[in-house]
Amino acid sequence: MTYPRKHLLAIEGLEPPHIADLLDLAESYALLNRSGKTQRDLLKGRTLINLFFEDSTRTRTSFELAGKRLGADVINMSVSTSSVNKGETLLDTASTLNAMHCDLLVVRHGQSGAPSLLSQKVDAAVINAGDGTHEHPTQALLDALTIRRHKGRLEGLVVAICGDIAHSRVARSNMHLLTTMGSRVRVVGPPTLIPAEAARLGVEVFHDMKAGLAGADVVMMLRLQRERMSGGMVPSAREFFRFYGLDAEKLAHAKPDSIVMHPGPMNRGVEIDSAIADHPTRSVIGEQVEMGVACRMAVLDVLARQLPRNS
Ligand code: CP
Repeated sequence: MTYPRKHLLAIEGLEPPHIADLLDLAESYALLNRSGKTQRDLLKGRTLINLFFEDSTRTRTSFELAGKRLGADVINMSVSTSSVNKGETLLDTASTLNAMHCDLLVVRHGQSGAPSLLSQKVDAAVINAGDGTHEHPTQALLDALTIRRHKGRLEGLVVAICGDIAHSRVARSNMHLLTTMGSRVRVVGPPTLIPAEAARLGVEVFHDMKAGLAGADVVMMLRLQRERMSGGMVPSAREFFRFYGLDAEKLAHAKPDSIVMHPGPMNRGVEIDSAIADHPTRSVIGEQVEMGVACRMAVLDVLARQLPRNS
């Protein structure tokens, strides 16, 4: 296993062998989970704290499940009822958790760079569970694992990431991971929702859905992140769906065996039609959630192996 770092803060900077090894390990956990043999003691005596400053269903729950399946003591810190509400700063919160000898700290925060800042202040291994518009590395890993399970590879695939790219940490982590692994990545959306850095990241930009989806192996839809918009960036939901919402007519431009992905949470009828989201053969959205547990087990596994031994 070649993972080179104490923390997982971003996909950017990881090299193909690091990503491939993480995916191989996650695949072994996916098989183990499906066999029902899930309880291991790799993290016995270790403490994992979930520290989420933003809402989450999938990421927080799957880290909890992953930690418990590996034998860790898992604490879900509820920020909404914590002393953060009495004015305690992020760094003082981190120092407090550090004094409790937490081993693995999973952090979601609205500010890009917050997990990186915390990683410099605590002894624990820090995992970025989504920071602002920066990165969501475990989401990209679970997306890549899902694609690999269906297509057998990442190299050479045409992957169209569609919708609100500018505000999406999922898009950014996926652009880094998929280009690093040799996929041909397209981003598709209105000019207001495509970041200026897209060209630097080595992806092709499309403003027309049908052109962007033509011949795609993978169609990844993203939610409009209205909470991160400063207003006026998109027309009404109805108009957005007309031009950029994935329905059967637009999907017909992708390859006939293309798969449809969405990190969730979905806004049905805005970026994706329900008939596509629930399509029995094309949609792999449920499998993405399943692979989330396996990938997070793999990440906890590799980081835990580098922790100092328990006394
Ligand atoms: N994909 C994702 O991060 O979902 P949650 O916000 O529910 O964790």
